[in-house]
Amino acid sequence: MSLSELFLDHIAYLQSGYAKALQAASFDAVVLHSGRGLKQRTVDDQYWPLKVNPSFAHWLPLLEDNVLVVVRPGKTPRLIRAKGSSFWEGPAPIPGDHFWSSFEVIECSPTAMKDYCPSGRVAFIGDALEAAKSLGFQAEVCNPASLLSELDALRSIKSSYEVFCLTEATRIAIRGHIAVDSEFHQRTQSEFDLHLHYLRETQQDSTETPYGNIVAFGPNAAILHHVHYGRQVDTNANQSLLIDAGASYMGYASDITRTTVRGGSQAAQDFRALIAGLDALQLQLIAKVKPGVAYESVHDLAHAKLADLLIESGLCKGKSEDLLSLGITRAFFPHGLGHSLGLQVHDVGCRLVPPSDKNPFLRNTSTIAEGQVFTLEPGCYFIEALLAPLRETEAQSMISWSTLEALRPYGGIRIEDNLVVSTTASINLTRDNWSPSN
Ligand code: GLY
Ligand code: MN
Ligand code: MN
Repeated sequence: MSLSELFLDHIAYLQSGYAKALQAASFDAVVLHSGRGLKQRTVDDQYWPLKVNPSFAHWLPLLEDNVLVVVRPGKTPRLIRAKGSSFWEGPAPIPGDHFWSSFEVIECSPTAMKDYCPSGRVAFIGDALEAAKSLGFQAEVCNPASLLSELDALRSIKSSYEVFCLTEATRIAIRGHIAVDSEFHQRTQSEFDLHLHYLRETQQDSTETPYGNIVAFGPNAAILHHVHYGRQVDTNANQSLLIDAGASYMGYASDITRTTVRGGSQAAQDFRALIAGLDALQLQLIAKVKPGVAYESVHDLAHAKLADLLIESGLCKGKSEDLLSLGITRAFFPHGLGHSLGLQVHDVGCRLVPPSDKNPFLRNTSTIAEGQVFTLEPGCYFIEALLAPLRETEAQSMISWSTLEALRPYGGIRIEDNLVVSTTASINLTRDNWSPSN
């Protein structure tokens, strides 16, 4: 199917999903506002790049401020664009023409936009509450929780159009990952150089990536969100690289992490073996993904398997169950196994209930369902702030501190793929598309 055909199905999916959501939340219609440029500081005239509201982006990939989508069950969605009068900025590029014919398009002056909003019990969804006010919306119908929770649930199950966009976003990111991996193994670079190399290969500006690239050499991989890239060329013959970087396509995000190591020292070889172990572990977890399984049970399984890997690799000794009960695996792998992926890199709809106390950072507590798209990203890091307290507990004797010291210069490992849940298992968008020709 072409993008236009997929988009028609997507709009039909949204029409029926919104009709049900509006009925459940007792609204007749909803107005979705794209957003307004936000000033960086009150004392100057610099604005943050526009990030359109995701409920608006669910309907179309237009990156314009102050645009409305009006959704009324049974009627063609209405797109209301304010005619611009600024001579300071040009319009944002329009990322395709597959969506226009699905809308009744109205172009009018900003003050006339109100005239095209429906009457009745109408909700407003958007970040710019001053725009809601000028359109005549009362505060109680702005971003109503009852409607938002229905729409979040709708966003957690992707249409075929969305899966297509997420696949494209993944393919673009793969191009960057393969290029950076090759650079890292061919010549010495700085973290900053590799970050720029990734942007060039994926043809994205840093404001367009779905999140700030994480590009970390060695110990910096133990900083989970390392975005202060070193400018020094790293000449270490034995060095690791963790890169967590995605791409955007039609507003949809990909989120991929790879870890690699160069050099032939004993420690580099041991770290390479640990990467291979975590890679195999990740694939075993992915094999467990299918509708009906609790995502949190896969997260718990990740800890059980990591306990075995820590013992096999010589980082820990003792019994796997003791590593689990003493919280040792949680010191090595502190974050969640993954999260919903879509219009936001940490997308909505898969954490409707909190995780158990032992998994505080888990962002996916859903029962896995067909059509969900999420990441699966186990990690194993040497983070001093988490490991140091173990020296004071009975866990102390279960860690091989000398092995840990030898591997510590490599920082840590994360391997992250993007999955779409199918009827019986999952499709791995990352590994299935891993080719430099993407
Ligand atoms: N890149 C952010 C994350 O993996 O969740
Ligand atoms: Mn992620
Ligand atoms: Mn990531």
